[in-house]
Amino acid sequence: MRSLTYAVALYVSLASAVPFATAQRTGSPSDSPQDSDIYQSSYLGGEHNIDPSDLTDFTQLWNATFNTDEKHWARPLVHTLSSTGRQIVFTASTENRIRTFDAETGQLLNERQVAPPWPMDQAYCTTHVSKTLGIMGTPVIYREDGNEIAFFYVKSYIEDYRQPGGAYPPLNSVYYLYGVYLDTLQDLYKYPMIIDGQPSDNDIRKTFLGGLVLQRPALLLLGDVLYAGFGGLCDAFNYTGSVVAVNLATQNTYTWTTQAGNASLYNDDWTAWHGGGAGGIWQAGAGLSSDGKDVFFTIDNGGGSTAATLDVTPRKGHESLGVLSETVARITLDESGGAGIQLVDFFRPSDWQIDSGQDIGSGGFAVLDGDVFKTKSGKRIGIATSTNPKMYVTEVDSLGGYLQGTNGTDGILQTIPLEGEVFGAIGSYPLEGGYIYVNPGNTALSAYAFTPNASSSLFSFAGKSSDLNGHWGGAGLPTVISNKGQPGTGIVWATDVQAGLRAFKAVPVNGTLVELPLPKVEGAVKFGRPVFGDGKVFVVDGQGRLIALGRKTAT
Ligand SMILES: *[C@@H]1O[C@H](CO)[C@@H](O)[C@H](O)[C@H]1NC(C)=O
Ligand SMILES: *[C@@H]1O[C@H](CO)[C@@H](O)[C@H](O)[C@H]1NC(C)=O
Ligand SMILES: *[C@@H]1O[C@H](CO)[C@@H](O)[C@H](O)[C@H]1NC(C)=O
Ligand SMILES: *[C@@H]1O[C@H](CO)[C@@H](O)[C@H](O)[C@H]1NC(C)=O
Ligand SMILES: *[C@@H]1O[C@H](CO)[C@@H](O)[C@H](O)[C@H]1NC(C)=O
Ligand SMILES: *[C@@H]1O[C@H](CO)[C@@H](O)[C@H](O)[C@H]1NC(C)=O
Repeated sequence: MRSLTYAVALYVSLASAVPFATAQRTGSPSDSPQDSDIYQSSYLGGEHNIDPSDLTDFTQLWNATFNTDEKHWARPLVHTLSSTGRQIVFTASTENRIRTFDAETGQLLNERQVAPPWPMDQAYCTTHVSKTLGIMGTPVIYREDGNEIAFFYVKSYIEDYRQPGGAYPPLNSVYYLYGVYLDTLQDLYKYPMIIDGQPSDNDIRKTFLGGLVLQRPALLLLGDVLYAGFGGLCDAFNYTGSVVAVNLATQNTYTWTTQAGNASLYNDDWTAWHGGGAGGIWQAGAGLSSDGKDVFFTIDNGGGSTAATLDVTPRKGHESLGVLSETVARITLDESGGAGIQLVDFFRPSDWQIDSGQDIGSGGFAVLDGDVFKTKSGKRIGIATSTNPKMYVTEVDSLGGYLQGTNGTDGILQTIPLEGEVFGAIGSYPLEGGYIYVNPGNTALSAYAFTPNASSSLFSFAGKSSDLNGHWGGAGLPTVISNKGQPGTGIVWATDVQAGLRAFKAVPVNGTLVELPLPKVEGAVKFGRPVFGDGKVFVVDGQGRLIALGRKTAT
């Protein structure tokens, strides 16, 4: 996926301090360089080496504690340094502190506060995200040609920048895109770059003001282009959702808003609630996804845009649409032709205005393994989830538009009703026939089996866990691994804010997802998921500690 040409360009333009290395992908197959996979299929199978039988020998290897008010909403990442061969865990927090730990021993290797975090008392928040806002979206690791760099968005401020009042006024808060070398945590040449004040490419009235938005979804790196989604900050202000794409080598930046054109709301009073049309990209922190080329995500409530509320005209997904609300969207970036980011396709459920509290933006869009999960005519399948609560099964290359089914129904492959709201994403397992997993709040983790060539129900209920998630708004994202892709070794992992980390055999037995033994983890961060290393699992617990589990070392 990452071409040598791109990597060399990055080396030449940015990494002049690094000795030239021969072109090769660095790291180890057991690393976790991003949130899940670029497809957000949440299957990390062939790359990992934990067997279900190993879990009986699992113990807590180490834990790390952080400052009292420091939160890790961004998931840790795992990488093996080419310099030392040592596997490390990289963390990034709401205090803008980044750290590396030795994955084996838990020894703190490096720590740095990259920039002061924004004190969030003036964000009009009813829920307390954390005392300060810093890094929230999961970073991504660029690793090729001797470059081992973590990229991430940092919320900080410039004193008295747009308004008097020092750090506090939201308009003084800004976003920086950081790139740091993983071995030293020092800045990459020409980084950080400030991402602030640029007009949206598809509606120049709408200026990107980092103080009014939150970078929450995990980052997506495709080649040299880094994609980030932005949504509301406690849903206040005149914000709109947007995607910012940065070519890391050239630093060319593209900004696309979910609410564009004359039909969209615009208000230059930044304090106006939903004045810019809202339509944030949040996904409970799940990553933007990809088919390898284009980018997929969901957009939440574009409340306030009259045109969007009144527009009940059926539309094909490939028609252009400026005001996107409760929508799955696919965009493409045209760098060479100069068109920037363009909407390619969308799906909006027929009942998007009916179900109160419906929010398709609470979960991301999963692009499933196209070798296994395909339609009768061989088309790739994707899944969106929501707080409706439903799972929407669509074709990746024809998302479904709006009201394209018979009699004003959804023109998609299948709609699966659920018993609870879903935050984050689904999981999938392409071996042994193929399964998908969903972890709705206040109900059980559930598995659905894939039926190839089925004409209507491609997925059917196959089993669930015997206990329930204790929390409606904090259940974790099902994440699946296998022992180097061998059938029979699939494990589906899911966190729960009360029960901690749990693991199940991926293939249900007689309607039950069979739980595997694990050492007790005391709760979990909301919307969490575990991260994997060499025979190890890392998770942020309910107290905000980083916990490492693995096999007991021989004594
Ligand atoms: C964290 O590690 C310390 C030192 O090994 C141990 O005493 C403590 O019980 C651990 N904490 C948790 C929550 O397991
Ligand atoms: C808005 O409407 C004006 C006047 O009809 C038109 O010239 C302009 O191109 C429109 N802008 C957008 C972004 O659609
Ligand atoms: C919000 O207000 C600011 C300040 O006038 C303006 O620059 C920005 O474009 C507005 N945003 C939207 C989405 O309306
Ligand atoms: C569509 O609606 C018409 C009129 O109510 C009904 O006769 C027809 O059976 C419906 N078709 C489907 C596929 O539901
Ligand atoms: C599904 O249909 C395709 C094309 O007709 C066929 O090649 C394939 O074997 C079928 N798969 C199964 C599992 O029946
Ligand atoms: C599953 O159910 C069948 C039929 O009730 C029974 O024969 C079989 O032993 C069960 N398998 C397991 C693994 O419990």
